[in-house]
Amino acid sequence: MDVFEAIKTRRSIRRFADKSVTDEEINTILDTVRYSPSWANMQCWRFVVVRDKEKIKKIGELTNLESFLKPMGYTTNPASKGVSEAPVVIVACADPTKSGKIWEQSYYLTDMGIACQTLMLAVRALGLGTVFVGIFDEDGIRKLLEIPTNIRVVGVFPIGHVPEEKKDAKMPPRKPFEEIVFYEKWR
Ligand SMILES: Cc1cc2nc3c(=O)[nH]c(=O)nc-3n(C[C@H](O)[C@H](O)[C@H](O)COP(=O)(O)O)c2cc1C
Repeated sequence: MDVFEAIKTRRSIRRFADKSVTDEEINTILDTVRYSPSWANMQCWRFVVVRDKEKIKKIGELTNLESFLKPMGYTTNPASKGVSEAPVVIVACADPTKSGKIWEQSYYLTDMGIACQTLMLAVRALGLGTVFVGIFDEDGIRKLLEIPTNIRVVGVFPIGHVPEEKKDAKMPPRKPFEEIVFYEKWR
């Protein structure tokens, strides 16, 4: 699978087959993430790999709290059940002091976005599935995984095998090329 195919066929996977994911697969994914670019090569990212079933169940619950969903106009997080049932969850964290901040732009989030896309493409290239889960109780996850308060939790990634019925998942619509690309000046 080349990079174009991996990018175009990656889908958010929110349910997983009842099959384990090996340590080797997880290590391959996270080793690939290390090659991502970052602000001044400072590599602000840190990852917590969770296999403990109780902890995974709790992380799923922490992605589905009404107090976090309601202000955003959601009643449920569609990824929560999949998180609770995944064989492995990777929690992507950042040390914001290990990146740039200029003109009110915090580049640790950019570094993390790039790293998380690398993670998702590596998952895809291995034939596995994941989804970027961005709604969660950050303090709850910090407490559960003993993450220090100066570290930001940026994303939760359940990793698992893609169930048969999700293998041909339709791509959610994308904006047309003309709407997002301008030539020579803003239009
Ligand atoms: C920063 C970010 C946060 C997201 N948070 C959630 C989430 O909390 N729950 C969920 O079900 N999907 C979440 N998603 C997945 C998006 O809904 C999904 O990427 C989008 O609908 C496009 O679908 P695709 O990934 O299959 O192309 C998130 C994606 C991103 C990039």
